[in-house]
Amino acid sequence: MAGFVPVDPFDIVIFGGTGDLSRRKLLPALYHRDTDQQLPESSRIISVARSTMSDEENVQWVRQCLIDSLGDDCIEPEVWERFAHRLHYLTIDLTGDDGWAQLAEMVNQERDRIQVYYLATSPGFFGPVATRLGTLGVIHDNSRIVLEKPVGTDLESARAINREVGAVFSEQQTYRIDHYLGKETVQNLMALRFANSLFEPLWQRGAIDHVQITVSEKLGVGTRGDFYDRTGALRDMVQNHMLQLLCLVAMEAPTSLDQNEIRDEKIKVLRALRPISGDDVKRKTVRGQYKAGAVDGETVDAYRNEIGNGEPGKESGKDSGTETFVALKVEIDNWRWADTPFYLRTGKRLPTKCSEIVVQLRPVAHSIFAPDAGSLLPNRLVMRLQPNEGVTLSLMTKEPGPGGFKLRSLPLDLTFAEAFQLRYPDAYERLLVEVIRGNPALFMRRDEVEAAWAWTDQIIQGWETQQVKPEPYMAGTWGPTASAMLLDRDGRDWRDPVDD
Ligand code: BG6
Repeated sequence: MAGFVPVDPFDIVIFGGTGDLSRRKLLPALYHRDTDQQLPESSRIISVARSTMSDEENVQWVRQCLIDSLGDDCIEPEVWERFAHRLHYLTIDLTGDDGWAQLAEMVNQERDRIQVYYLATSPGFFGPVATRLGTLGVIHDNSRIVLEKPVGTDLESARAINREVGAVFSEQQTYRIDHYLGKETVQNLMALRFANSLFEPLWQRGAIDHVQITVSEKLGVGTRGDFYDRTGALRDMVQNHMLQLLCLVAMEAPTSLDQNEIRDEKIKVLRALRPISGDDVKRKTVRGQYKAGAVDGETVDAYRNEIGNGEPGKESGKDSGTETFVALKVEIDNWRWADTPFYLRTGKRLPTKCSEIVVQLRPVAHSIFAPDAGSLLPNRLVMRLQPNEGVTLSLMTKEPGPGGFKLRSLPLDLTFAEAFQLRYPDAYERLLVEVIRGNPALFMRRDEVEAAWAWTDQIIQGWETQQVKPEPYMAGTWGPTASAMLLDRDGRDWRDPVDD
């Protein structure tokens, strides 16, 4: 296993410090890195949020967050004491003037060290907070800004954010997070493709029939109803996570792992995506929204009733036209992928939580086997990002024994947890360390984000102009029937991730 090399002393300021992301991901990730003694003694975690809280109350609140996320036994006294010492809290309403001077005073106590400003807020604050940090005069060469996805809500707003943030922080100092890029199996995709000679000759239209990318969740929108209803699955999952996965599968081999080499290859894929507009919007996209149903045997409510719940004062979204499911047929106009579509689907309240990439090879050219030998299934390479991270390759084999030639598809299975016997770090652990180290390779460059918006904006506009409303699907199913039809029309079907 790779050892843990401590990072240089740093301070991290988390805007949105009491929010969902901070509670569930950032604080637990920093705690894990501290457990592995990767954080220097003097480094500080400064949470910034609107509510009034003392440092002591913040320490208790963080302790509870860790217990909620990591379990009762996560609090090891020695680690906790070290971690609690790092915690500071500042009350700042990001739209107001109070509290900024205290922030400047606090970060200036350790002026020259690495400073990470993490914006775990809605994108509307990215530009204003960057500008404010600029006027406070606290930014220097060792400062970095981290922007949570989504960067904007469309191309125009993304450009405005990039411009405003870019006026204070250089591109090298700007880290646009897509946490899928920090997932271990996504990293492994690079190893699989570029550290094995087996795949490259097959990685093209002549050998691959199509690719499927599924990111399914059992959860509904939880307490994020307000945000989600303004966002929808296309902006929340496709514009970023799913397009990033598609790029890593489809890109040419970079000449090295250098930050710009990989990103230069990804942007070529984004620019080669065939636009989905006009009549294609109805033929190549499916929008869905969940109705009440059952997930894992538990009855769950419809999206329209769920949004607003948990947020006092918010009305239920009876008329909401937001999609909680999207399926797309994506074509890439280049030599490698012509006539090899990529099918993408993602949704909430689906039967299982699973992220996987399925590379379906073409069938054999001619069968030499008798009809009663059984079906000759094309080979499939399945890369599971979660759960049970690993790779399987289905191969046709002969059933052993006498009594005729019977064929059977069997998986060659590499489940990483079994192979490596270790805890898989959360993506945020890796990404936070990369920010502190100053390595932007796993983050989205400005042109990537803008190219991804340019492509998704056309779909959103198509939905609006052609009045494509989400089709209802029952919670606990694989989305509207139109999703199955999307592949059926091409003589294909979705792989059911539950069938392993
Ligand atoms: C986030 C989305 O980016 O990714 C959420 O905003 C989604 O809606 C989450 O639930 C899924 O991440 P993961 O790592 O659980 O697959």
